[in-house]
Amino acid sequence: MKQAKSAVNVRPASKVPARWLRDVERILITEDQIAARIQQMSREIQRDFTGRELVVVSLLTGTVMFLADLVRNLSLPLRLDFMGVSSYGAGTESGELVFTKELRLNVRGRDVLLVDDILDTGKTMCRVLAKVRALRPRRIRTCVLLNKAARRVEKVEADYVGFEIPDYFVVGYGLDFAERYRNLPFVGVLHPYVYQRGARNGRSDYRM
Ligand code: IMP
Ligand code: MG
Repeated sequence: MKQAKSAVNVRPASKVPARWLRDVERILITEDQIAARIQQMSREIQRDFTGRELVVVSLLTGTVMFLADLVRNLSLPLRLDFMGVSSYGAGTESGELVFTKELRLNVRGRDVLLVDDILDTGKTMCRVLAKVRALRPRRIRTCVLLNKAARRVEKVEADYVGFEIPDYFVVGYGLDFAERYRNLPFVGVLHPYVYQRGARNGRSDYRM
């Protein structure tokens, strides 16, 4: 089911905490905005899935914060499982997709909610959807915190979207650059110099 989405547009920056000022240009979505939107999303999901047990399939690692907040707002019987997916691309570009962890639960005949942090080119979602569909669930719905529609390459949309965002590379609230910044409580725009520096060094796991 499609629903109204919260678009995030360029607006005055919320104050970036001093600790992150060097790396984060500005806050795009605050903690409070995230919390409020997740409450709305979970109400929509709850309405659509009432009466059936849900298998929530979450993609590691970027979904950890979002998933934890989302499921705590869902008053539904559900089971939780994870799939590990890594994209070995350079810097901020997505590259070849590798599955690092398979599902443990049997989803055959079940209602599945597939959760990811961000829908960007759509390559990850397409690959994962194909994989889960092959396991013959009764239905699959997809849920992402962020949608960067401008970058889409594959023909795929999510059923539940937290925020529509412009084409910025963002970090925080689970999202990373080179495995860092996941612990920021907000979603912020990364200073381009951070990933340009990473590329210049010829490695994605550079020292800060
Ligand atoms: P896609 O396969 O291009 O749709 O990309 C999906 C994956 O790329 C997400 O699960 C993220 O891990 C990563 N990604 C895409 N855009 C961003 C971003 O702006 N910040 C952090 N990670 C991102
Ligand atoms: Mg990810």
